[in-house]
Amino acid sequence: MTPLTGRLRRQPIGERTPRGRSPYGSPVTISSSPSGASGDVTLDSYDAAAHVYLEQSMPPGPAVMAYLDAVAGLVGDGTVLELGSGPGWDASYLESRGPRVLRTDGAPAFVQMLQAAGHQTRLLDVRMDDFGGPYDAVLADAVLLHVTREQFVDVLQRARQAVASGGVLAITLKEGDGEACTEAKLGRPRHFTYWREPAVRAALMDTGWQVLSLEHVAGRVEPWLFVIARTGQVPSKIPRRPV
Ligand SMILES: C[S@@+](CC[C@H](N)C(=O)[O-])C[C@H]1O[C@@H](n2cnc3c(N)ncnc32)[C@H](O)[C@@H]1O
Repeated sequence: MTPLTGRLRRQPIGERTPRGRSPYGSPVTISSSPSGASGDVTLDSYDAAAHVYLEQSMPPGPAVMAYLDAVAGLVGDGTVLELGSGPGWDASYLESRGPRVLRTDGAPAFVQMLQAAGHQTRLLDVRMDDFGGPYDAVLADAVLLHVTREQFVDVLQRARQAVASGGVLAITLKEGDGEACTEAKLGRPRHFTYWREPAVRAALMDTGWQVLSLEHVAGRVEPWLFVIARTGQVPSKIPRRPV
């Protein structure tokens, strides 16, 4: 397996920002508003308030641990690319179960936090940066809920290209309809895109992933979808789904 190598290249997302309606769910608002250094208001909020997130969040509870155990069971001692590692709790837990985890985050403050704790960590914005690879798995726990539906599909495609044959994808999303912007928890704005099971399944199938498990998990505040998928057939062309 090739680790994430080289300097990460940044490029503007430009016209990939969706306007109008998405084939994968509710009407899309312009969610990732251009903002400060990262060009994304959510990422800027995490960067400015990483210490607040650390104080307000908790290490994985039983449901997340069981989910990560399932990922470890599929990956063995292989290599996992983690997107949006944040404080790195999932990565540390996963490594205690066998896999090697390559930590990344789009917020420099989290990257610095993890590096200061002795972990090799890369700055990687899921919207535009190269994932490298191939890996045995890509993990994004509570991360892809921050991107638009079109960006989500793009991430799924690039994750598919970043894993070896038989590679695994593990993602968690908030369950629900539409989008929201809230200052809860950080005291700064974060965008959320909510997902329903049929739309997630459709997006995964369209991007060459086969769903192994999709669980509905009660959260402390809102319900979640915990998904594990494996490489399947890549369609020659992503179908345009009716809204
Ligand atoms: C809710 S936290 C989850 C952190 C960690 N995965 C966990 O479960 O504890 C969301 C994380 O996604 C990161 N993030 C948000 N947008 C991102 C983007 N465009 N690219 C990479 N990381 C992003 C944030 O910096 C933050 O670390």
